[in-house]
Amino acid sequence: MLIQTPPMGWNTWNTFGKDIDEQLIREATDYLVESGLSDAGYQYVVIDDCWAEHTRDENGRLVPDHNKFPSGMRALADYIHSKGLKFGMYTCAGMLTCEGYPGSYNHEYIDAQTFADWHVDFLKYDFCYRPNVLDAKILYRRMGLALANCGRDILFSACSWGKENTHEWIKTTGAHMWRSTGDIKDVWKSIYNLSMAQESLLPYNARGCFNDMDMLIVGMHGEGNVALEGGCNIVEYRTHFSLWALLASPLMLGCDIRRLDEASKQILMNSEAIAINQDRAANQPYRIVPAWNFPDVLVFSRLLGNGDLAIGVFNLGDDVCTITFGLDELGITCNCGKVLHLHEIWSGEDSIPENSCIRIHKLAAHDCRLYRASLQ
Ligand code: GLA
Repeated sequence: MLIQTPPMGWNTWNTFGKDIDEQLIREATDYLVESGLSDAGYQYVVIDDCWAEHTRDENGRLVPDHNKFPSGMRALADYIHSKGLKFGMYTCAGMLTCEGYPGSYNHEYIDAQTFADWHVDFLKYDFCYRPNVLDAKILYRRMGLALANCGRDILFSACSWGKENTHEWIKTTGAHMWRSTGDIKDVWKSIYNLSMAQESLLPYNARGCFNDMDMLIVGMHGEGNVALEGGCNIVEYRTHFSLWALLASPLMLGCDIRRLDEASKQILMNSEAIAINQDRAANQPYRIVPAWNFPDVLVFSRLLGNGDLAIGVFNLGDDVCTITFGLDELGITCNCGKVLHLHEIWSGEDSIPENSCIRIHKLAAHDCRLYRASLQ
């Protein structure tokens, strides 16, 4: 199996859109290493849309934009690999990419071969300009088969936005991750919508093929390609990251990491949150609905490989809430002879539940608690 845990890395799209070139990719690669982000787990450097010339060469191959990538993709791959990182690229299942560059429809095998020749390790496969004559599942199976036969291990990142019930067939394509929803924006409403859409898809998240909630917006602060209305605040970024971590989404940075602020860096490099995301048991999270429920509150739990529980309480609404739920909801009976020890990851606070209940008093709007809990 190519991957055991959700992929982590950095992608150009959220901040840079079409304004990409090889200098940016090299600087981002350098920063990932120098900042410690790569040691924290962020390994893939991914060029999203807008890297290609508008026409293929005389052999039908994709060509990197000569102005943006004058040294070519193989040279960039060599640079990224020389820093110990992995190289990701992007194409699309349709005739064109979303930004109008050549897509891979009817070129799946030659394109997979080209990416292999360039020493690419990761391929994001988008869904714009798809031909109406074929179902999405056939389009993704084509590229899955082409990648499986290209002679190189290439992580297949499917990006059909959950369309045509992607969850039902995506594992038949060999994909290692799949976008469960539409595009993220750097605005709270987007985090709210993407998070609320996950519950019914959680049973489809599995080791080797992870539900992708889209690239992270942490650290964008309202600047860049997918920024809207001034972006999110730091509490919202922490809640966003906690959700993605607990629900085992791939963690792909989307900000300009070269200008990462300290508070965002602390969130993105929190080793305890990352450990939950990367837990190798890859058990599925489940939702707990407290008896006294608030519609905009999400509570999820996940059994970790060493027997601990990851528990997240998320107030996605605009009002302060006090949230209470019983330990029995977590599978803990009052006669089990053990005590649950809660460790809250962001504050570092340790506590023990009283009266067989976990109670979060006055959780602020858009705030969260993320616990690692152990029975002792
Ligand atoms: C789609 C994808 C995005 C990004 C853009 C690029 O919208 O969902 O993640 O790749 O295309 O054009």
